[in-house]
Amino acid sequence: MKLSTLISRMRPARPDVQPPAVQGLRQIAPLTLPGLARTVEAAQHPVLGFGVGDLPVLLTPEHGHVLLAGGAGHGCTVALRGLVAQYLRRGVEVDLLDLHFEHTWAHHLPGMTRVEHPDALARHLAALAEQVRSGPGGRQRVLMIESAATAEAVCTGAAAEALTTLLAHGRTAGVRVVMACHDVPRNLPGRARDRFTTRLLAHPSDTTWRWATGGEPPPTARSDGGPGRMHLVSRTGAAPAEVQVLYLTQAQARAFARGTDPAKEPGR
Ligand SMILES: Nc1ncnc2c1ncn2[C@@H]1O[C@H](COP(=O)(O)OP(=O)(O)OP(=O)(O)O)[C@@H](O)[C@H]1O
Ligand SMILES: [Mg+2]
Repeated sequence: MKLSTLISRMRPARPDVQPPAVQGLRQIAPLTLPGLARTVEAAQHPVLGFGVGDLPVLLTPEHGHVLLAGGAGHGCTVALRGLVAQYLRRGVEVDLLDLHFEHTWAHHLPGMTRVEHPDALARHLAALAEQVRSGPGGRQRVLMIESAATAEAVCTGAAAEALTTLLAHGRTAGVRVVMACHDVPRNLPGRARDRFTTRLLAHPSDTTWRWATGGEPPPTARSDGGPGRMHLVSRTGAAPAEVQVLYLTQAQARAFARGTDPAKEPGR
């Protein structure tokens, strides 16, 4: 090998040089990649991930409530992490129901209210439901429900009643619900389930796919994309679009939420 080639290979990559956009979908879409980071910074709404040709997929107010349904290990927690970090950075209040302590990175961040004890779930939801009944609040608010166990708990008894109210009246009161679970929540009344107008699917069961899309799952429903590859259905009857969800570590999420540079945090 020529000496000049060897030296050029030893030089660190210049962080200001933007890698070319990909033609198809990325295998991984890290928040710390300069091109993607700039897009996330400049976006008008939180970036869920990137579609074909690096087109950013934003979560706008029109998306309404979001149900993220997926099999274990397909990236649900990472997807919520990216959204929570972006909402906090934007000054949106986040209520995070998280019985399995998946988001300890978000402890004590301004704007964050965590509920991690089962006994507190119904009480917290009832208080929020009371608020939305009395009309639009001041700041935007997002209620995040993390993972199957928490979703099951909030779809039962008094908590389910409060959640149904939130789903019905939240949008006009500036409250959005984002719930991650394994399967379409059968315990919620159908009219409440249907309020999840945006469905994000991460290798879901056939039943959940049918509910979410109104059609049969194609072979690509569980396509070969790795974790973070999901299908987004943003309106009933629309074709599901593939998206590679934004990837960031817990430390990077905390840095981003606080307005410091996530690229300075460990990438693993
Ligand atoms: N968007 C992504 N891009 C790249 N890798 C990802 C992405 N999301 C998840 N991963 C990888 O997959 C692993 C599992 O992700 P995650 O914990 O989000 O899955 P999960 O669906 O929440 O799993 P569980 O059902 O066990 O809670 C992560 O630790 C990470 O290595
Ligand atoms: Mg998880």
